[in-house]
Amino acid sequence: MATMDKSAFFEHAAEVLRENDLGTYTVPTKGLYPFQWNWDSCLTALGQAHIDERRAWLEIETLFDNQWEDGMVPHIVFHKRDDGYFPGPDVWGTNRPVPTSGITQPAVAGFAVARLFERAKDKELARERASALLPKIHRWHEWFYANRDPQKTGLVAIIHPWESGRDNSIDWDDAFSRVPTEGVGEYHRRDTDHADPTHRPTKEQYDRYIWLVKHFRSLKWDTSKLHDASPFQVVDPGFNAILIRACSELAGLANELNLPDIAAKNDAMANQGLSALEELWSDVHGQYMCYDRKAGHLIDSLSIGGLLTAFAAIPKSRAKALTVRIADIESKTNYLIASHDPSDVRYDGKRYWRGPAWLIVNYMIADGLTAAGENEMARRIINSSFDLIRESGFSEYYDPIDGDPCGGSRFTWTAAMVLEFLLVV
Ligand code: DGY
Repeated sequence: MATMDKSAFFEHAAEVLRENDLGTYTVPTKGLYPFQWNWDSCLTALGQAHIDERRAWLEIETLFDNQWEDGMVPHIVFHKRDDGYFPGPDVWGTNRPVPTSGITQPAVAGFAVARLFERAKDKELARERASALLPKIHRWHEWFYANRDPQKTGLVAIIHPWESGRDNSIDWDDAFSRVPTEGVGEYHRRDTDHADPTHRPTKEQYDRYIWLVKHFRSLKWDTSKLHDASPFQVVDPGFNAILIRACSELAGLANELNLPDIAAKNDAMANQGLSALEELWSDVHGQYMCYDRKAGHLIDSLSIGGLLTAFAAIPKSRAKALTVRIADIESKTNYLIASHDPSDVRYDGKRYWRGPAWLIVNYMIADGLTAAGENEMARRIINSSFDLIRESGFSEYYDPIDGDPCGGSRFTWTAAMVLEFLLVV
């Protein structure tokens, strides 16, 4: 890539980050998502570090200032009132000093903090900030395995599709159909005021999202009870891979910071997770699959969740097999990586997580494939990500066939990923 091109990408990405920066946290995009989201913020910090390291640390600290006493880190922090989003704090009713949601999101923080630390120019600042964050992230990891893996299988379940970040993935369809809709009542969705409704989840899915929120609220947000009480318990390989990677990164960081107990515990969690992940491998499909814990079987759905496992230190042979799957998806699309296999009749190239390509997923998969020595596929994923930005701007997600920008525009984590990709092109 020409130097000129690189500096234009850098400037534009930095501008998007600035626009969405509210001082101590960054909103994913104005309008559609007016608060702080958990995994958005952690990935955003990676981009911010290219501009201002202090600001990057602050992004993650603000999130962890809102960690619950039990160790959970909520998926949304509602720092300020904004009626442009539904469901807001009144629906969640979690009774927090700063209102938050009551569910969590992919555990990217451990990875992000380790990466900020390793890249830091200001080493003293990094040591101070990482040392303070590390025990908090460790508590979150322990919370996950204690509360979302009560049978000690080595794998955690999500209890609400929003926890995966892949809200309306085809992966959840069957398990989600068991969630009732009765008693949800009337409500006014706001997302469809800001984004094209054909890019967003359906009304029926929203009814079920809200039913679960109300159900958990009726249990007073006691997170030790919610897993068993949820009609929706799904083990997502991608979600687990992120947690496993975060545990092993945190272990490495803890060793450097002379915290051997935290290091050993995170190593153990990562190792258990990695070996348990193998139970989700499908020889028939050549990738990892989701597992419906309530129904007791793997879910027949070829989604990006199974490919995201490349982010963890899975066996090299598995990483190679995943490149074959990605190449197959590549042969059916023009831009990498579709979040669902286009040959599935349920695929929808513009509807959120039922087909569109996302730069954050491209980033995590490319990172993992590079670590596994699959450099050629990683390069194709990164090049394709730049094609999308060049042709369709800093969008939330993109149609992998025609490249159309979808969802929210001027999207923070998309810009952050561009800043990260610029390091390796
Ligand atoms: C939404 O509101 O679309 C979010 O994904 C929930 O976190």
